[in-house]
Parts: sequence; structure tokens; C-alpha cells
Amino acid sequence: MTGIDWNATRAARVVSTSEMRKRARRLPRAIFDAVDGGAGDEVTLRENRRAYERIAFAPPALADAGSRDLTTTILGDPVSMPLLLAPCGMARMLNSAGELAVARAAGKAGTIFAVSGVSSYPLEDIAGVATGPLWYQLYLLSDREATTAKLARARTAGYRVLCVTVDATIAALRERDVRNGLEIPPALSLRLVVGALRKPSWLAAFVRGEVGDAGLGARVAVRDFVTTIRQLIGVTSDELRWIRERWEGPLVVKGVMRGDDCEELLRLGVDGIVVSNHGGRQLDGARATIEILPEVVEAVNGRVEVFVDGGVWRGSDVVKAVALGARAVLIGKAYMFGLAAYGEAGVDRVLEIFRVELDRTLGMLGCSCVADLNPSLLAKSSLG
Ligand SMILES: Cc1cc2nc3c(=O)[nH]c(=O)nc-3n(C[C@H](O)[C@H](O)[C@H](O)COP(=O)(O)O)c2cc1C
Repeated sequence: MTGIDWNATRAARVVSTSEMRKRARRLPRAIFDAVDGGAGDEVTLRENRRAYERIAFAPPALADAGSRDLTTTILGDPVSMPLLLAPCGMARMLNSAGELAVARAAGKAGTIFAVSGVSSYPLEDIAGVATGPLWYQLYLLSDREATTAKLARARTAGYRVLCVTVDATIAALRERDVRNGLEIPPALSLRLVVGALRKPSWLAAFVRGEVGDAGLGARVAVRDFVTTIRQLIGVTSDELRWIRERWEGPLVVKGVMRGDDCEELLRLGVDGIVVSNHGGRQLDGARATIEILPEVVEAVNGRVEVFVDGGVWRGSDVVKAVALGARAVLIGKAYMFGLAAYGEAGVDRVLEIFRVELDRTLGMLGCSCVADLNPSLLAKSSLG
């Protein structure tokens, strides 16, 4: 007899990604805030979202799109929709299956998972369960040998695309974390226990060693994480050239915030650019990414693929980004909250919500495929 999958049943009742965020409140406050929060006054965190809300659609009156095709390709990989899962570290703080669950969910949904350079499962284990393409996100370390070893491991495990994050070399001040006394990885501090006492299911999993840092393979990954964070260095042109010489596959740079950086990036042989401010978690006061996107798209002028992340919570946001020239968007918090609320079933549900909303929005704009999207479908007056 097969049992009822309560996580899937409960996840299926969640209507939107913002509702999924509310369901993730089953986490202790400190852990919820570590995912939800941003740097400083969280101006950039809020602006990422608000900037999408300010953009209005301009649907044509006479258009018909009875059936829609959401498929596209990302750096040559076919995907079911123009959306992939952003690299987010330490997923095991949220659910025992961590990145393994995310990789499985991404594969089922027919899209790509970009695995964090500070994942809580070894990159080989994640590749072992993945059925779809993976990106490997690299944080550049001062120790070149360690970086070379990381690249070799990623290549051997089958990662084809390398994504170098350039906006997180200085530790940001995330005030919620400071207030919550959060340590990464979470140790059994008094504050965390007190907060977790009101979240018995998370606390029980923590004590069993399923979440946090006590699990088997996770221990190694956590040691890795701490070493990585201590050794982060800035990515200069020389460093990027050094990486390019050591990675044969497609190379993506994540964390671009101005159009006039693009020429140099292209000269250095980059194959993709992610317009990102790290979801408002790094430099507070940076511009909303969807507002930066057009200037990057113009600078790149079709020579490489451009992606954007930050504040994507709706299928309609994906449509706006693609209409403005993004090849695809990356989502971060939205799927992390799915993972926190219902594990793999939660990530499945988040991806399904995006797919349905994306399909509906495309239809209402009279587009039968993502290639039909263009800036004329957005009201000029709403585009800043
Ligand atoms: C909990 C969490 C952990 C993250 N860890 C990483 C990371 O390890 N590497 C990285 O490049 N970006 C990391 N990011 C940033 C995401 O890749 C992405 O840029 C951001 O979440 C997008 O914004 P959104 O959360 O509003 O969708 C993290 C984001 C979150 C929320």
C-alpha cells in the first residue's frame, strides 16, 4: 500500500509563491530571516520587487494564442521554460534533503539548477541525483590550487556551465542575522534553541542531525563552506582571464549591475551575463535588477545570453524580464521557501506555479511562444 504524500498534498494547496513564503514560517525565526532578509535597510531587496510591480503590460487587442509553447534554450540546453534555479548556499538548513531535493525538482520540471559554491551537499552527490543540466557556481578563492581543484571536481562530476559570482567578496551586513545572533552553519546556540522551541518539527530534525550541520556528508560540505567564506577574493580582469583559461565549457558571470562592464566581460570570453544584486543581500542601495536589464541587453547587443535575477515571484515577472531581453530569469528565495515549507514537493509546487502563471500571462498577451515576447508588450510610460 502506498502512503499519502502529505507534503505534496499540502504543497498542492498553495496558490502563490508569496503564500509559500508564509508556509516557510515553520522555520525558526533566525533561519527564516537568513533566507528572507537583505543587507542594510533592505532598500534593494524591496526595490527588486517593486520595480517589477511598476512595469505594466500593454496587451494587443487583436491577438490569439490558443496554445502556448514555453520552451527555450539556455546556453544550448533545452529547458521547459525561461527560468532556472539560482545558486543558494546551505539549503540543508531548510530541509534535510537540501540541494538533492532541489536538483530532483529542477530535473522533473525540465529546467536547470545552478548549484552554489557553498552547497551543503558535495557537488558530486548533487550531480548524482540530478536528471537535468547543472551549472556550478564558483566563489573565487585566494588559494588558486583550491580553486583549480574545485573546477576539476565540477568538470569531472559533469557540470557543463561555470557561473562565477562577482558581487559577494565582501561580507554584507545583514542586520536581521546580527539581531538573531545567527551563526552559519547554525550551532545549537541558546538563541536558536529558544527560537526553535516554537518550531518543533525543525528542532526535531536538527536534533536528529537532518538539518543544520550535524548530518553525514553535510559536515564535509560545511567545513568547505567555512573555508570558502574565509578565502573569498575579488574577481578582477586578470582573475577572470585565469578562470577562462581553465574552463572549456560556457562561462557565466553573475552579479553584473551596469551596462558599461559588458564590453570587457565579452572581451574576456564570457558566454553569459547574470544581471544580479544577489537578491538585495549584498550592496544595499544598488538599483533594482529589472531596471538595469535593458542597459545590459543593449550593451551586449545579442552577442551572449543575458539573464536576470532578484525579486522574481510571479510568472508575469518572468514574462516582463524576457520581454526586456533576458534569455531567462533565475529564482532564489521563491524556491528556497518551497524547500523550507514542503521539501522537494514544495520546490515542485513553486515551479508548477511559475509554469502556470507564465503560460497564462503569455496567452493574455497573445503570444504563442517565448520568442514572441518583446518590449512593445510593456507600457512605455511604466518603463522608467
Ligand atoms: C539563502 C540564499 C543563499 C544564497 N547563496 C548564494 C550563493 O551561494 N551563491 C550565489 O552566487 N548567490 C547566492 N544567493 C543569491 C541567489 O543566487 C540569487 O542571486 C538571489 O537569491 C536572487 O534573488 P531572489 O531571491 O529575490 O530570487 C543566495 C540567496 C539566498 C536567498
